[in-house]
Amino acid sequence: MSDPTTSHSDDPPRDGKPLATTRAAAGRSEPLAATRDDPVVENRRPHRPRHRVLDDTILRDASPSGHDLIVRYTPNDRSNHWITAISFILLALSGLAMFHPAMFWLSALFGGGQWMRILHPFIGLVMFFSFALLALRFWHHNLLDRTDVQWLKQIGDVLENREEDLPEVGRYNAGQKLLFFTMVACLLLLLLSGIVIWRRYFSFYFPIGLIRLAAVVHAASAFVLIVGIVVHIYAALWIKGSIGAMVRGTVTLGWARKHHPRWFREVIESERR
Ligand code: HEM
Repeated sequence: MSDPTTSHSDDPPRDGKPLATTRAAAGRSEPLAATRDDPVVENRRPHRPRHRVLDDTILRDASPSGHDLIVRYTPNDRSNHWITAISFILLALSGLAMFHPAMFWLSALFGGGQWMRILHPFIGLVMFFSFALLALRFWHHNLLDRTDVQWLKQIGDVLENREEDLPEVGRYNAGQKLLFFTMVACLLLLLLSGIVIWRRYFSFYFPIGLIRLAAVVHAASAFVLIVGIVVHIYAALWIKGSIGAMVRGTVTLGWARKHHPRWFREVIESERR
């Protein structure tokens, strides 16, 4: 077990060795205890911020190349997003396996048909509640305004990468906002229809006609959500730096200025105040 006095909690030991051992091997003779004020630790992480990192904070010289970064997503935002994303993937795979016999082989990933059928609705609840939290966090950022209508009218410029001709985009563009509300609608429909077709606990409360209708609504909204998420992933890969935003939480000032200029301006102005 490593000695807490010889290693720094934020600074994992290299090669599995405690910091003290690494430094001793390097022939250093100063005391082994590494603290936040230790010049060796300071040199390795010269600009590490010590305050609590909030959304839209500018981190000075925080990138490996020494550029400033803006915090776009907090650790809570990111955990919330990736729990939703992982449960979505599990649901899409198990849902497709139940949808058509040609895809039933996917059930092997869940321990067979029985287990998959048991697990699918519970994972559905995880996704619904996780997404509900995510939607509450981001709701106010996704409200459409007049510039969004103009952005949609100029969708040709968007697709041809003529961003300089577009109205200034805020934290999210109109496409992201519409997709956000498509996700909200699909998740609600999936929950409601899913409860009606959840045979083990609920279906016997409903007439057969409603159960059949719910099965169609469930499949249709799952289809729309899957297509929507494919677009979402495509856009995330297309706009270089977006995945990094959701993985590390930060974006460069250049990324913000190019893709979300109004948001960039707002962050800079709030920093000056
Ligand atoms: C499965 C793979 C997924 C990937 C790779 C992915 C990637 C990303 C990335 C990179 C962003 C940041 C975009 C930006 O800051 O401009 C983002 C935002 C977001 N993602 Fe995902 N995502 C995935 C799945 C999902 C799922 C399943 C949902 C919900 C059902 C979801 C909901 C959201 C929401 C709500 C945002 C914030 C954008 C907004 O509020 O309009 N994502 N995602």
